[in-house]
Amino acid sequence: MTESQTSRRSPDPLGLADRCSSGVDPATFRAIMGAFPTGVAVITSYDRTGHPRGLTCSALCSVSMDPPLLLLCVNGNSGALRAIRDSAGFVVNFLREGRDWLSQLFASASPDKFSRVAWRRSVATGLPWLSEDTIAHADCQLVSDVEAGDHAILIGLLVSGSAPVHTAQPLLYWQRTYASWPGTETSTVDQTTTVVTTVVPTEPPDNGAADPSPPTHRRYRIP
Ligand SMILES: Cc1cc2nc3c(=O)[nH]c(=O)nc-3n(C[C@H](O)[C@H](O)[C@H](O)COP(=O)(O)O)c2cc1C
Repeated sequence: MTESQTSRRSPDPLGLADRCSSGVDPATFRAIMGAFPTGVAVITSYDRTGHPRGLTCSALCSVSMDPPLLLLCVNGNSGALRAIRDSAGFVVNFLREGRDWLSQLFASASPDKFSRVAWRRSVATGLPWLSEDTIAHADCQLVSDVEAGDHAILIGLLVSGSAPVHTAQPLLYWQRTYASWPGTETSTVDQTTTVVTTVVPTEPPDNGAADPSPPTHRRYRIP
């Protein structure tokens, strides 16, 4: 997709600099927004050198049925954001239950996130797809890119994807805690040390595939 086909960034397109001032500090904002439970996705793309890049993302929702659009909000400093802009596309990988380790991996600054996960090229865009650890994926072309504060709102057009089979369960996230539906498994992100500990063993995947997840109780530190 060319730059003219993608609605590109302009400085402060929403005019927020003039209109926005708030007495709410970041911790309060995080606490309020953390009250809203979500699923967890990993957004993947290629950078301009052809290396796969990705980040964990929960600021994600559907936008439109016709055409099929979804949106993500990504920090302006994200390395994966640059890759998404370079490729003018991304894959939304909706994580399966028990993949809290994978969520933490893609939320880290690790330079080789993809060496520890199974992935292949997606059907439509050819972008990286985490095929073994997801319950669904959405293969998207980037059609709009709007700066909003310190994040970018990215709108993607779904050009391909896969929906969950009835046996697949999602990874859930609420108040810095991972869980499974209907709540048989949890792991907590420690507020002060940002260390994650899985406290209940992970079930093997329902499709019979080899489970690539590392042993439970393994700890991941976010750099
Ligand atoms: C559960 C969870 C949800 C997250 N959601 C978002 C999000 O919606 N947008 C975002 O920019 N970062 C989000 N992050 C943080 C990024 O994953 C993190 O900053 C990551 O290091 C970015 O990687 P990159 O710099 O290689 O792109 C989330 C992290 C976690 C653990």
